[in-house]
Amino acid sequence: MPELAFVSGRILAIEDAVVPIEDRGYQFGDAVYEFIASYGGRLFQADAHLDRLERSMAALDFPSLARDRLRGDIRRLYDRAGLERAGLYIQVSRGVAPRNHAFSADLTPQVVMTVRRLKEIPPALLARGAAVITVADLRWGRCDIKTVQLLANVLAKQRALSSGADDAVFVAGDGTVREGTSSNLFMVQKGRVLTHPLTAHILPGITRAVVIELCRQEHLTCEERFFDRDALYAADEIFLTGTTTEVLPVVSVDGRNIADGKVGPVARRLRQALRRRAGGD
Ligand SMILES: Cc1ncc(COP(=O)(O)O)c(C=O)c1O
Repeated sequence: MPELAFVSGRILAIEDAVVPIEDRGYQFGDAVYEFIASYGGRLFQADAHLDRLERSMAALDFPSLARDRLRGDIRRLYDRAGLERAGLYIQVSRGVAPRNHAFSADLTPQVVMTVRRLKEIPPALLARGAAVITVADLRWGRCDIKTVQLLANVLAKQRALSSGADDAVFVAGDGTVREGTSSNLFMVQKGRVLTHPLTAHILPGITRAVVIELCRQEHLTCEERFFDRDALYAADEIFLTGTTTEVLPVVSVDGRNIADGKVGPVARRLRQALRRRAGGD
């Protein structure tokens, strides 16, 4: 039984796991989540993910969860699955109550988790590099909170796939490039690595933070700076970062080749450094 769910303190097969229909996550999207990847039997950056989960919960006035208990439940679920390379999904909703926009401070947050095998990024995609399209950012004003309200992300991703691209990148009304549908975005311009600063408009990605640190280790200059779509088209390299994305080179945007349209050396180097750091190679 390697792919499992955790609901109301019990571990069970995913297909047998259900949540009550009055869970506020189900009715209002009133829930936050994390997704952690394991490499060689170890959950990568687990504490950073739990820190962010606590920040998301606090930002929405959820009562806090006992960290040791949650960590113990994660361990129990992950160990029971026994998967070396897995994706662990954790969702915490505000709780279960009769449907009402207003909520009581007394609700008990509901934790559900799943653990599944995690597929590697196809080698062919890594070799050719990804194609992305830019889309208007229709999300709400607190994208720094990792909520389950992902409809704009879902539609943007689907639009990218329907147009023959691999993913979409959100761009603000003034042209500022923000992030991918489930990843942060970096570009290389004249030898400097640039990424959007931490604001309410992007998720503070765990992989983003690791990659910024890896840039230092690799003696690459990395700056958190705003840049627009025209700068993106003119970049020397672009790549996306995320827990499942790792470092994914991007070679075209809106049908235009980036530089020579081939995977660049900085993305390749940072991808290798990330895999080494995670223990995946
Ligand atoms: C919108 C968005 N940005 C960035 C990321 C990357 O975050 P992380 O590196 O923590 O996986 C994600 C991951 O799901 C995301 O959904």
